[in-house]
This record gives sequence, structure tokens and C-alpha cells, in this order.
Amino acid sequence: MIDIADFQQRMVEARAYTQALFAAVEPEDFCRQAHAEFSPVGWHLGHIGVTEGFWILQQCQHAVSLSPEYEVVFSPLENPKENRVNLPAASEVFAYLDEVRVRVFAFLERDDWPDSHPLLGEGRLLNMLLQHEEQHTETILLILNLLAARRFDAGEEGLFSSPAAPRRGAPPQTTRTTMVRIPAGAYRMGSDDSAHTLDNERPAQQVWLEEFWIDPTPVTNADFLEFMEAGGYQNPAWWSQPGWCWREEQHISHPLYWRPGRTQGHWLEIDPFGVAPLDPAQPVRGVSWYEAEAYAGCVGKRLPTEAEWEKAAWWEAEQHTAAAQSAPPESGLGLLGGVWEWTHTWFHPYPGFQAFPYDGYSVPYFDQHHRVLRGGSWATRRHVLRATFRNWYYPGMRAVFAGFRCAKDAAS
Ligand code: AVJ
Ligand code: FE
Repeated sequence: MIDIADFQQRMVEARAYTQALFAAVEPEDFCRQAHAEFSPVGWHLGHIGVTEGFWILQQCQHAVSLSPEYEVVFSPLENPKENRVNLPAASEVFAYLDEVRVRVFAFLERDDWPDSHPLLGEGRLLNMLLQHEEQHTETILLILNLLAARRFDAGEEGLFSSPAAPRRGAPPQTTRTTMVRIPAGAYRMGSDDSAHTLDNERPAQQVWLEEFWIDPTPVTNADFLEFMEAGGYQNPAWWSQPGWCWREEQHISHPLYWRPGRTQGHWLEIDPFGVAPLDPAQPVRGVSWYEAEAYAGCVGKRLPTEAEWEKAAWWEAEQHTAAAQSAPPESGLGLLGGVWEWTHTWFHPYPGFQAFPYDGYSVPYFDQHHRVLRGGSWATRRHVLRATFRNWYYPGMRAVFAGFRCAKDAAS
């Protein structure tokens, strides 16, 4: 039996966080499209509610839709991205989310929980929905960052607001400074835990990895500044051919949220709630896969594969405690929770992959156009944060809270 009260508590917490983010949203930004790839924050809000209602009320309770109109407006498939600036008022969308929640909770409080139900059993669907909401709240935060940058670039004042807002956590701490050697050997990658993981993490598989070395921390702003000051953005030697084309076309010469400070060589960085002098110790973020690849080449390293990344995430934990796999965020080299980290690997299905609970979550992105990111950022919430979780974006994407760490072969 699953603990429904515990799920309800976590759903309440996830929603409170989502709502708190909207306190920082200017009314005119609710439906503003900040980036061609990302819908307005108001769309994400409605989509969270529609998704919860669709899966629980329609698919499980077999109720009719609360709002067929909302189902179209907040559908990623039925409403084209450029049309998503046309949304109901924020107050209406919030009222809709509340209405869905009341009915969902009434349904969950039934006393005959169907443990053999493919969706409800082991809390599978509830875990999926918690992760769904938390993934969208991270997306809302990255859109707020894009909007803050737009304000800054338009010369607007008042970007130093809201010290209470969720900003950055401290990156995971480690006392290590040199690369860590991960011995050759078989590694069990992914998971068979169908209650907590998403379809693309399954099934678990044995992979053999040769010995490799990996950085104990992500590349910092200070590291990246050295690359820049050494002319890294001007030297095609460090770039792959598609990477160089991308850089030329987009005129990229620094990470997305860096802005020149008043004095030469000093930089500011814009975050979702303000702007501050660039912190040299923070992991670099707002870089594409191409920039990550170029940096790694420049320092004589490479990006880790996702298998290497995951093995490294568990590796040290296994030396310490056999129970480590049940406590991922604290475990291993502390690879979780600073920035998402680009890996070398294209997003692909593991052998034996089965789409669940619908094709649309992973399958459309198994297209050799998306690179895998691992780890999770300061904006990633607890249900998403684990060593087997796979994220993916186009290699040219810079708007996610992504950085990277480097690896190298044992022989080199
Ligand atoms: C895994 C973060 C790329 O936001 O597009 C949310 C997650 N899928 N709703 C996305 C997702 C459907 C997905 N990412
Ligand atoms: Fe979604």
C-alpha cells in the first residue's frame, strides 16, 4: 500500500513552490514569450493543471474533462507555440488548478487504492506528476531568467529585487581538487524502479567502462573566463565543425547571462531575480553543448559520456556505504544539484526501453538531435534529483541552467 497522505503532502509542497514563483512574475510577463523554444510562464502553469487533471481525473477516474478548452490551450501538441501568448487571466488559471486539485484529492482519498492498476499502482502516476510539475517549475525559472536578461538589456532598473526568492543553492561541496580515477569495470546503469523513475531511465543494464578520469566539480566561472581570455571563442581549433558554425551564426562570445561590468575584464551575471558580479567559484552556466565541447578540447579533456557520469556519481558512495543507492543526493562525488551537466551522449532509448505512460514523454526526442544532460541544477526539485535521471536538449540550447564537467581517458 502507498501512503496517500504523504503523496498529498508532497503535492501540496510542489504546488506551493510553483505558486510562490508567480509572486515574482510581472502581470505583463504571464503571457510573454521570452524565447522561441519556450512558452510563456502562464502556459506552463495551465499545462501543469491540465496534465494532472488529464491523467488522474480523465484517465483513472474516467471523469469528463473539466475544461475541454483549457485542454487545447495548454496542450503541447494542439496549441502551436507561437499561439501560446493568448492565455486566460492568471487568476482564472489559478482557480482552474485549484479546482483540479480538489477533485484529484477527493479521488485519491478513496479507500480502495487499486495497487494493481498500471498507472496508480506503487504511486507510479503520482510520482510522475510530481516530477512533471517540478520539471515545469524549473522551466518557469529559466524563463524568468530570460525575462530578467531582457529587462537588463533594455536598461530597466530594479533588477536587484526579492532577496527572499529562491536564488541559487550552494554548489555541492568537495575538498577534491584533482581529477578522480574511476577504475575499469562493469557498471549497472539506469534503474528498474518503475515507481520512481521515468521511462527513459529503464531498464537497468550492465555496461562495461574502461578506466577514465573525471573532474570532481563542474567547470567554474573562473575556469571558463580563462578559456575566454585565452581567445577560446575566437579559435576554431577547439571547436567541432557544427559547433563553430553555430558560434559564427549566433555570434556567441560569452555565456548567455554574462554582461560586461563597469571595469575592463569584470563581468556581471543575471539570474532570475537580479544581477550581481560574476561569482568566480560558481559553476559556469548558460553554455551550450558546443561551448562545453570547445572548452574541454582546449584543456585537453573531453565531456564524459552519460554512462561515465552516472558511474562516477555512484562510485564513491559505493565505497562508503552499501545503502548509498537509496540516498542519491548526498552520495558519490556530489554530482547532483549545482548545474545540469552536458554529457557527450545523444539521447537514445536503453535496450528494452518501453514508453510509459505515453509515447510523447521520451520517444520524439530519440532523434539524434538532443544531447543528454545529467545531475540537476540549483532549481531542480527533489523528485527530479537523482543519479539516473536523464534530461535532454538541443546542443545549441543555452537557456537551461546547464554547465558541464570534463573527463579524460586513462591513457591520455
Ligand atoms: C525533459 C525537461 C526536456 O520540459 O520538455 C515536461 C520534460 N516533458 N513535460 C521538457 C517534460 C513533458 C522535458 N524535459
Ligand atoms: Fe509537460
